[in-house]
Amino acid sequence: MEIESIKSEDRCIGKKLAPYNPVSPQSYEIIFNLFAFNKNEIFYDLGCGNGELLIKSLLEYDNLLDACIGVEYDKVYYDRAIENVTKTFGTSNNHKIKIIHDNVLNIDISNATGIYF
Ligand SMILES: C[S@@+](CC[C@H](N)C(=O)[O-])C[C@H]1O[C@@H](n2cnc3c(N)ncnc32)[C@H](O)[C@@H]1O
Repeated sequence: MEIESIKSEDRCIGKKLAPYNPVSPQSYEIIFNLFAFNKNEIFYDLGCGNGELLIKSLLEYDNLLDACIGVEYDKVYYDRAIENVTKTFGTSNNHKIKIIHDNVLNIDISNATGIYF
């Protein structure tokens, strides 16, 4: 059974705050210019979809980022994010990137220095 065939309300934790509509690769540079990362950043993507923005951030700014944390409430996109992170950084994974399967409203983001929402 295709996982998408599971009803959205049965695979999601909490209320939908935005539909899945990923950032286009052409917009990454604009986003990174706006964030202008400094050292020791803790970057959150709230509603991280398939994790591509976090992965791109870490590939480009590994020296500045202490942590890249994605929160995704939909199990389908959460699983894709985990798969993409593993594909990119290997099975040992990059200890700086973390994907959380939860509702963004449940997450303590008090340590964030940058938030994409
Ligand atoms: C506009 S997409 C952004 C995807 C990703 N940030 C990117 O840039 O490619 C919004 C995402 O938020 C997720 N989302 C919606 N409501 C949420 C909630 N309450 N908690 C966590 N994630 C949520 C959706 O499943 C979707 O993947």
